[in-house]
Amino acid sequence: MTNKTWSGRFNEPVSELVKQYTGSIDFDKRLAKWDIQGSLAHAQMLHEAGVLSAQDLADIQRGMAEIQAEVDSGSLKWSLDLEDVHMNIERRLTDKIGDAGKRLHTGRSRNDQVATDIRLWLRDEISTIRFLIKDLQAALLELASDNVNTVMPGFTHLQVAQPVSFAHHLLAYVEMLGRDDERMADCRKRVNRMPLGAAALAGTTFPIRRETTAKLLDFEQICQNSLDAVSDRDFAIEFTAAASLLMVHLSRLSEELIIWMSPRFAFIDIADRFCTGSSIMPQKKNPDVPELVRGKSGRVVGHLTGLILLMKSQPLAYNKDNQEDKEPLFDTVDTVIDTLRIYADMMRGITVKPENMRAAVLQGFATATDLADYLVKKGVPFRDSHEVVAQAVRHAETQQCDLADLPLDVLRGFSALIENDVYDILTPEGSLNARNHIGGTAPEQVKLQIARWQQLLAE
Ligand code: ARG
Repeated sequence: MTNKTWSGRFNEPVSELVKQYTGSIDFDKRLAKWDIQGSLAHAQMLHEAGVLSAQDLADIQRGMAEIQAEVDSGSLKWSLDLEDVHMNIERRLTDKIGDAGKRLHTGRSRNDQVATDIRLWLRDEISTIRFLIKDLQAALLELASDNVNTVMPGFTHLQVAQPVSFAHHLLAYVEMLGRDDERMADCRKRVNRMPLGAAALAGTTFPIRRETTAKLLDFEQICQNSLDAVSDRDFAIEFTAAASLLMVHLSRLSEELIIWMSPRFAFIDIADRFCTGSSIMPQKKNPDVPELVRGKSGRVVGHLTGLILLMKSQPLAYNKDNQEDKEPLFDTVDTVIDTLRIYADMMRGITVKPENMRAAVLQGFATATDLADYLVKKGVPFRDSHEVVAQAVRHAETQQCDLADLPLDVLRGFSALIENDVYDILTPEGSLNARNHIGGTAPEQVKLQIARWQQLLAE
């Protein structure tokens, strides 16, 4: 079989290697469902515009329904000789219904067709991704709700800094995911614009009605410049950038899960179904899933780089370079969807070890800032109180104990303003409660944030 669709002007068939090099059917067959959707809307519009007869339209609709069933059952035979999904489906249609199949491509080109297919497909995938982001947020909120009063060391430079509520820490990721969702929603608006009607690059001589097709396909807007419509893939780049940020956020959380699961920390345990053992070390339980998420984030960022470089230096309008947009996009979507699915499940299988978290807080002088603030409230300038507390920390270090373990007379040796009530603020719980303002880690505030997010997710 040669590709008769365009072979008329050629003296010899393309070589086998070129056929494989230029063909995209192996991967773009995935767009079949959206290609059929687009074709049906185009045919309907052509009929309403008086270009296609009612009989032709009915034949096309019947043929496409059969083809969709063949795609669903896997019985449709895809042919590399027909290059891509568009020509495979068109040929199958023509085999089934004859000339009406050949008339379908009137007023259209594969250039606007493929741009339409990707947008139709991607907007559906973005909706799925948004749903899954919210489910992961819900899983994080469930864990947070159980751990409002669980104190853990908050870190800066990965050194113990100040006590925080474990729920507060988890809510930081709920916030990040919230912005990821906003980015997806915003990007979807620009994905959801219709290139169909741009034809090859300049529009078409047929009396097409783009508003009709846009309405049938539920596009929010119509691309207003035909050259731009067939050539730019900025919507795909933008999506991959949003996906990269999402993966980077999950990579950061993964890094923390890995650290927390290490026996040196032992803050959490991850359910066995997300871990694997070692073929040589019998004692090992490895956090493979978070490690892979961390690794796969690199591949999505790689796709962003690939897509943006694909666009760079392309003259207007369509160039075959753009066929290379599909594999990185497909892989980005698959990676993000699989990651979100597995992550929500994994967060629901986390066991928290509050006693170990609390013990870690007590080892790092996490309440030193609280003591400094205590002295400030008694009239000591902050820089001076900072120095006083530093001395106290030095002393506690030599005694190998926490600040709260130093007797009152010893503490008073550093400042006579220290009184018995100091022990209230030197505990991790006292430290948490004292940070009672919007965005602070006080359990009261954390509860408000959980309620706020539960409300947002319910909407
Ligand atoms: N398979 C092509 C792609 O993915 C479809 C458009 C081909 N257009 C063309 N003029 N060769 O971009």
